Amino acid sequence: MTSEPIRFTDGAGYDRFMGVWSRLAGQDFLGWIAPSHGQRWLDVGCGNGAFTQLIAQQSEPLSLVGIDPSEAQLAFARQHPLLQSVEFVNADAMTLPFPDAAFDLAVMPLVIFFVPDPAQGVAEMARVVAPGGTVAAYAWDMEGGGFPYRDVTESLSAVGRPTPMPPSPEASRFEVLGDLWASAGLSDIQTRVIAVERSFADYDEFWNTLLGGPSAGQALATMNEEERSGFRELLRARLQPAGSGPITLAARAHAIRGTVPGP
Ligand SMILES: C[S@@+](CC[C@H](N)C(=O)[O-])C[C@H]1O[C@@H](n2cnc3c(N)ncnc32)[C@H](O)[C@@H]1O
Repeated sequence: MTSEPIRFTDGAGYDRFMGVWSRLAGQDFLGWIAPSHGQRWLDVGCGNGAFTQLIAQQSEPLSLVGIDPSEAQLAFARQHPLLQSVEFVNADAMTLPFPDAAFDLAVMPLVIFFVPDPAQGVAEMARVVAPGGTVAAYAWDMEGGGFPYRDVTESLSAVGRPTPMPPSPEASRFEVLGDLWASAGLSDIQTRVIAVERSFADYDEFWNTLLGGPSAGQALATMNEEERSGFRELLRARLQPAGSGPITLAARAHAIRGTVPGP
């Protein structure tokens, strides 16, 4: 493990590396929340807008606000044609710049393990959602092998190039999520496992996806060209033992939802 933070500095690179996964899992998550149309939404840690797009396209929000501390991610989101009516704000989940009860739903897709104090982040979502509203999140099962690129991170660790890790990986455990939601005073707490798969046409597509993204891409950037091409073949032997053809990866996330108690 290393203390280097994961850097979200390239919205397009993030989209290839994680945005595709985010929309796959997010589709399941959104269907599970099943919000009615005409709601006031807050997307906490909206990043480059990968999940925000699903809300905009499918939930007919009355209003939609996304917050994130990465200006590069927000800049990508602001350019997206589907997101022109979304209000994007540079802010932190732990100090949301909104009054109490300003939203009907607050969601945190693939973010809770990045928040240094997850309890504060959940308490903030509960504060800004009106009574009867929903606070929901989903996160890769980081400690149970659910991260989509776990083969990559394990292989990088094995060659002494550990991938930067988020500050609160334990927050993706169901028991921790349950405690966080209960401690924030939320009721009707429900959980769900989200399982998804993603295919890459060939090894080149997979490898280029890694290079441009955060996390594994940062570890690969510390290698010189010779080390990187050696690692490329090592990883290929693990993921594509036959030497050609598509590559399919599986991932698993934990989702949770709760209700702000009514008046
Ligand atoms: C894996 S991305 C998820 C982005 C988006 N929600 C999605 O589903 O694709 C994690 C995001 O969390 C943001 N983030 C990191 N720390 C944060 C914090 N303390 N408060 C809010 N967002 C944070 C990062 O900038 C990044 O955009």
